[in-house]
Amino acid sequence: MNTAPATALSDAEIAAARQVTPGCRADLVHLNHAGASLPPQVVLDAQVEHLRAEALQGGYEAAAAAAGRDDDVYNSIAALIGADPEEIARTEHATAAWNAAFWSIPMERGQRVLVHDQEYGANIVAFLRAAEVHGVVIDRIPSDATGAVSVEAYRDALGDGDGVALASLTHVPTNGGLVNPAAEIGAATRAVGVPFLLDACQSLGQLRVDVNDIPCDFLSATSRKYLRGPRGTGFLYARREILDRVAPSQPDHDGALLVAADRFEWSPGARRFQYWEYSHAAWLGLGAAVDYLDTWGIDRIEVTVRERAEELRNLLVGIGYQVHDDGAVRSGIVTTTSPRRNAPELQAHLADAGINSTHTIAGSSRWDVDRRGLAEMLRLSVHYTTTVEELHRTVEVLAHA
Ligand SMILES: Cc1ncc(COP(=O)(O)O)c(C=O)c1O
Repeated sequence: MNTAPATALSDAEIAAARQVTPGCRADLVHLNHAGASLPPQVVLDAQVEHLRAEALQGGYEAAAAAAGRDDDVYNSIAALIGADPEEIARTEHATAAWNAAFWSIPMERGQRVLVHDQEYGANIVAFLRAAEVHGVVIDRIPSDATGAVSVEAYRDALGDGDGVALASLTHVPTNGGLVNPAAEIGAATRAVGVPFLLDACQSLGQLRVDVNDIPCDFLSATSRKYLRGPRGTGFLYARREILDRVAPSQPDHDGALLVAADRFEWSPGARRFQYWEYSHAAWLGLGAAVDYLDTWGIDRIEVTVRERAEELRNLLVGIGYQVHDDGAVRSGIVTTTSPRRNAPELQAHLADAGINSTHTIAGSSRWDVDRRGLAEMLRLSVHYTTTVEELHRTVEVLAHA
């Protein structure tokens, strides 16, 4: 077995990856991979080919012809995260996956739901709604000194698991470079049998995420971010062993099979969480994106992204900007503020120079924004296709903003 640490992609390899990515152009710097990344040509081709088949043959006929490739997407995703294909459900995006899992979990009045301040906005809405609907208590576990969730406090809150309906964690938050210690939290929840729901929307595709190393019962993901797939598709991982303890809250006749006029049976495995209708083109595109990722390997991608993000943070500090990324381990998401101009102005200024970025908003991470008092930050998210030259170009523009 090769145990040598992974190396970053070389300049030649990055050039090769850029070569097959239509959006990697000389006149565009894309630093919004945490919003939606740039897909490689194979992803575009998979989608266009299927859209053309739908237009020329009919949507159902094209789907029948692509059925084998469609099934392969489950296999590819399962291999990526160390799961069984039956544990994967297709969804429209990450929030749809997360909600399907969250609202399937039985909750009783007075039970606790363990969460962290760096949860995504949509998840926070669900927690508040569950408090209204089920009368659960939302238990916000504090951060440690680095800003990551405190594993010790989480363990204390879990206790022996009694009275805890669910443990939730956002692995990589939307509004900063933090990587939360998901493996430790997962192990703690597994030890006491509390269902663990992991939001892996931003981590998948930039970090190794394997459900054998991060024990979780549910994992939600989207296609368009670090996986470099199309918009409008995603998936839910549901561990086989959790299925007897939960029930999809809004199944259709694909997730729940009508075996008689007055009776349904759940579809096998995680498929009970999915709906019949979906974008076949987007799903096939996601499959192509996951397969393409193997060209480089997730470990080398992870090292490259981390290296590039740290380079950017150093360059920003060098021009007098403040970097706000929490955590001892950090992701490809870089958040910063300027002493002179606010984040929307910086974003507009970068856009004028052909540089894509975004800025954080309170609603996407309300609890963290309130805790740190940081609503609008410029967010620059790098991927392994980002070059050092692009970082210098960006920082040069910011230095004069
Ligand atoms: C951490 C995190 N979770 C969930 C989501 C929601 O993903 P989607 O828009 O695919 O539902 C996002 C989107 O930015 C996110 O950053």
